[in-house]
Amino acid sequence: MDRPIGMFDSGFGGLTVARAVIDLLPHEHLVYIGDTGRYPYGPRPQAEVREFARQLAWSLVKDFDVKAVVVACNTASAAALDDLKAELPVPVIDVVEPGAKALVLATRSGEAGVIGTVGTIGSGAYDRAVAATGAEVHLTSAACPGFVEFVERGQTSGEEVTILADRLLAPVKDAGVDTLLLGCTHYPYLARVIADVMGPDVTLVSSADETAFATRVALTEAGLLRSPDGGPAEHRFLSSGDISWFADLGRRLLGPELRDAAGWRHD
Ligand code: DGL
Repeated sequence: MDRPIGMFDSGFGGLTVARAVIDLLPHEHLVYIGDTGRYPYGPRPQAEVREFARQLAWSLVKDFDVKAVVVACNTASAAALDDLKAELPVPVIDVVEPGAKALVLATRSGEAGVIGTVGTIGSGAYDRAVAATGAEVHLTSAACPGFVEFVERGQTSGEEVTILADRLLAPVKDAGVDTLLLGCTHYPYLARVIADVMGPDVTLVSSADETAFATRVALTEAGLLRSPDGGPAEHRFLSSGDISWFADLGRRLLGPELRDAAGWRHD
């Protein structure tokens, strides 16, 4: 199946999922759209994020003929997953369910935490996803407004980020969690700062990595994997914002596969 996997996020965050998918499924073509012209999604009303997610997902299907859509954004998953699953003609893979499943498997004490955008945490999506696993886990949630903005500016370490992390992570630290889920695809870029603030006894789980595994399972089950004999995989990157900034910072964050970027507009 030579069609690409489609993937979208509000900006650079989904590149953590793209990196994991490229590593795990090196023969797959990929089309990634970062909606940097309209980021951040976190503070926006759910209905607006849902509409953006529908525009992006339908563009991937209609304009790029993707064989599956990976919603590489927790905020969009929380707002739009049910609609996307109901209306898209291809498999839809989200970040919330794989992350929640990995979290309940990783916690030893049952005291677990999740951090995400205001939209994701406010939606209760992780409370529902963790409850749906049936595991005896007590979940403490904390919204981290500001983290996404640092990543979008390319500032992933330093004193300012650490001061903000100290303040925003206090609720999950005080709850004594032994495992913390990074419930926003931007956050793996801040993993060193977050790990430093949380301390060595806390295990970090990335929803981005878990989603790559879920993507492999979904494509395998649907018989949609691309043959390794089909030549090199192509990776395309599009942005609704400043294209040269997307290419420059994107290459730093993702790696050499992001050679250049093209523009994306909702029509
Ligand atoms: N990367 C998105 C997420 O996983 C965040 C986005 C934003 O606030 O734009 O939630």
